[in-house]
Amino acid sequence: MPKLNVNGEEQEFNAAPDTPLLWVLREQLGLTGTKYGCGVAQCGACTVHVDGAAVRSCVMPLRALKETQQVVTIEGLSRNGTHAVQRAWQLMDVPQCGFCQSGMIMAVSALLKDKPNPSDADIDASITNICRCGTYNRVRAAIKLAAQGVTRRRVSAADGLQTEEGLS
Ligand code: FES
Ligand code: FES
Repeated sequence: MPKLNVNGEEQEFNAAPDTPLLWVLREQLGLTGTKYGCGVAQCGACTVHVDGAAVRSCVMPLRALKETQQVVTIEGLSRNGTHAVQRAWQLMDVPQCGFCQSGMIMAVSALLKDKPNPSDADIDASITNICRCGTYNRVRAAIKLAAQGVTRRRVSAADGLQTEEGLS
């Protein structure tokens, strides 16, 4: 039976090797925060992390994954929605209908891990998720807000001060 490490726990399930990761997450593991939009790697609604990188799970077949790889979904990004990106999203009131937002948040959190202070060009190049409600301006503002939080936390950590949950 195939196995994957999802949100820090080993999970067993029943699926053929060509099954997209998205359907394992949603149908087998009940992790419905990850959404199905286009099914062809265009919209980003299905974005999750595999070993810290943002991937579009609708086009990632199980056979492309190793059991040792770490899959993280929106449900596992933080305890109680306290990740820096989730807090910035709350403060900026980003979501409208919300359908695209878990994919947006997963894409942004992967970006900030690599680039804690992304330029507009970095954001344009990395965050290609589609939002039918047109939240793009708020998404950009929230990315900048989250980036400030990430930078502050990294300075605090360097000073040996207590840090909040975030992108470490
Ligand atoms: S559902 Fe995967 S990119 Fe649109
Ligand atoms: S918030 Fe509705 S699709 Fe993005």
